[in-house]
Parts: sequence; structure tokens; C-alpha cells
Amino acid sequence: MNQDQPLLELFNQTRADSENICKPLATEDYVVQPIVDVSPPKWHLGHTTWFFEEFLLTKYLSGYRRFDERYAYVFNSYYESMGKRVVRTDRGNLSRPSVSDVYSYRAHVTNAMIQLLYSEPAAEVLEVIEIGIHHEKQHQELLLTDIKYILGNNPLQPIYGAQKNEVFVEHQPAQMIPIDDGIYHIGHDEDTFCYDNELPRHRVFVEPYAISNKLVTNGEWMQFIEDGGYTKVLLWHTEGWDWVQKNDINAPMYWFNDNGTWNNYLLSGSLEIDKNAAVTHISYYEAYAFAQWKGLRLPTEFEWEIAQDKFKWGERWEWTESAYLPYPNYQKPDGALGEYNGKFMVNQKVLRGSSIATAANHARPTYRNFFHPYLRWQFTGLRLAQSL
Ligand code: AVJ
Ligand code: FE
Repeated sequence: MNQDQPLLELFNQTRADSENICKPLATEDYVVQPIVDVSPPKWHLGHTTWFFEEFLLTKYLSGYRRFDERYAYVFNSYYESMGKRVVRTDRGNLSRPSVSDVYSYRAHVTNAMIQLLYSEPAAEVLEVIEIGIHHEKQHQELLLTDIKYILGNNPLQPIYGAQKNEVFVEHQPAQMIPIDDGIYHIGHDEDTFCYDNELPRHRVFVEPYAISNKLVTNGEWMQFIEDGGYTKVLLWHTEGWDWVQKNDINAPMYWFNDNGTWNNYLLSGSLEIDKNAAVTHISYYEAYAFAQWKGLRLPTEFEWEIAQDKFKWGERWEWTESAYLPYPNYQKPDGALGEYNGKFMVNQKVLRGSSIATAANHARPTYRNFFHPYLRWQFTGLRLAQSL
């Protein structure tokens, strides 16, 4: 293992960061689940704690006693091999454990983990600790995006607090960057942490293409709306069109039209939309239709990775045209940790980059995020490409 920061420090910082994200919340905000994709903040705080308890403390810290035996059922997310769990749709029904119980649970597990870290754990234990830390960082992103959904869909639209680059403007002139055809290496190639789905590094052939140095802006999106983009069936996949009809979609998430002016909900409150800022909170279906309207396309995840050092990224997740699939020779880890990424490699799309909600030091050029094509509550955007 190779890291700039000692593991104990990284662990402590990560545990504190999750709790800091929740500081602006009222107790009631911790509990609700307005849509199935959004989990209650309290649940995130408990689930990330459960992960350390189940995958580490019960196995490797001698004499460890669970905080509460019943929490295994409450905070297991989707690990079939770890037993039964509260179904996802019912996470918002958990009035207990209380928020303060969950904070006590966190303290109990954090203290036990510090003991484990001081016990000179074996290399394979250290590896799981590292996964647990990165797991909690993934949930920090979900925490903030779920909080935005909870507050932004409350009729009072409570303010969370300003978040740097939630309105993100790129000032450089727009340009399509040409990239030569050829065989390129794709996947993680360093001694540092990565998820199993970024491996193994392998070769991919790409035809010549060009990729934009900028994300698509709100101003461009308004033109798409004004030109009837959401009403022109030929721009859309069938699935996307059905989704638009069924859900009455006519703008990105959090946009609302106030007497002809487009405003949007931000964590800092509602504001008129900045036309120069990157469009955010769009689904893959919308990204695809927009690219069709422009006569361009989304980059594949390989095209994105090959070109990533030629543009600035890291403020928005970028939808790609790639299906979320295993790389050639992908090895699913043994046991329950094999359920972490591998079992989701069907019917989802890859997003590249990272967003303003991504935890510090959690982004890298080979990182593969993945979501179903209709989802848009993450800080998603798009960058256009074309074949040459
Ligand atoms: C990679 C963001 C799709 O949301 O389930 C959290 C992250 N994995 N716990 C997800 C994750 C396990 C994952 N995404
Ligand atoms: Fe998780």
C-alpha cells in the first residue's frame, strides 16, 4: 500500500467529514426518504459504520462487541451474502434508531477501529480498511446529493449553505480537441487505491475523434428547450421518450420557470440560472437527446480517459456513451466484497470525472461511476464528442 497520508489519519478525517456534512441539518432532515434513490442521511451515517463493523471489527478485533446486534439488519445495504436487511424503499420508515443512537454507534465503531489500526493489522486487513474508508467517501457524495434532494424538494426550500462551484463557469473559448486513432491503455496503473472495476489495465483501439474542452452550458440547454428539444421524439431513445412522457420532464432537475425566467434550486438557495455555467442534474437520456440535437455524440468512457489530461474536469460527473461492463479479465473479489461493484454491471451507464460533492482525494482519471440512465440527482453534466 502506498499513500501520502497515514491510514489512521485518513480514517479519522473521513469519519469526521461525514459528520461535518450533516452539521447544517435539522434532526427531521436526517430521517426522510423522498424517493427510493435517496437515502436518509441517518441511514448513510449508520451504513458506513456497519461496513467497518461487519467487514473488519467482528472479524479482526478480538473481543469486539457489536454496538447493537439488530443494526446488521438495519444498515446492510445490498449484500445478499451478509443476510437479510431493511428493503431499500423502507429506509425512510426508520424512526429508530434515533439520530443520537446513530451518532453513538459511530463513536463506538470509530473507537474500536482506532484500536484495530493500532494493533498492527496484517496487509490484507489494511486493504479492507482502505476499502472501508473509500466506501465512506463514496457515501459522502451520496449524503450531499441526497441532502440537496431532501431540502430542494421541500416546499420551504431550506438553505444548506454555499458549495464551491455549484455554479461552475468555464471561461476558456470552446474548442473540439482532435485525438489520433490508435491503441491506448485503459485502467488503473498505480500503486494507489482503486476499485476492482478499474482493473485490469488493458488495451483498447479507438478511431479518430474530437472531444470538447468544455462542458455543455445552461445557455445551450435553454436553446435546446426553446427549440422544443423535449418535444421532438426523433431526438430520443424510446426508453428516454417514455421517461419524458411519464414524468413530464421539460427541464433539468431543480429548474423551475418563474414567469418566463428560469431559476434553479441550489444548496445556497434558489437563484436565476447562470447561462454560462455548466448544465447540471440531467439524465443520460437527456444528455443523449441533447447531443443528437447538436449533431454530435457523447464520448465513450475510453475516449474520455484517453483525453482527460487535455481538459479540466472534476466539477461534474460526465455521462458517457459506455455501458457499465467488466473490463477483459475482470476479477470479482471473493466473498461479500465481490458484491460491491461486479453485480451492477448490467443496464447502467458509466460516468467519468467527479463532482463538487466528491470527497477530497477520491477522484482519479480511471474512476468509473455508474448509474441507471434515468437518474439525475447527482451533479451530472455532459461533454460532447464527434467521430472524425
Ligand atoms: C458507485 C455511486 C453507484 O451508489 O451504490 C456505495 C457507491 N457502493 N456503497 C452506489 C457505493 C457501495 C455506488 N455508486
Ligand atoms: Fe454502501
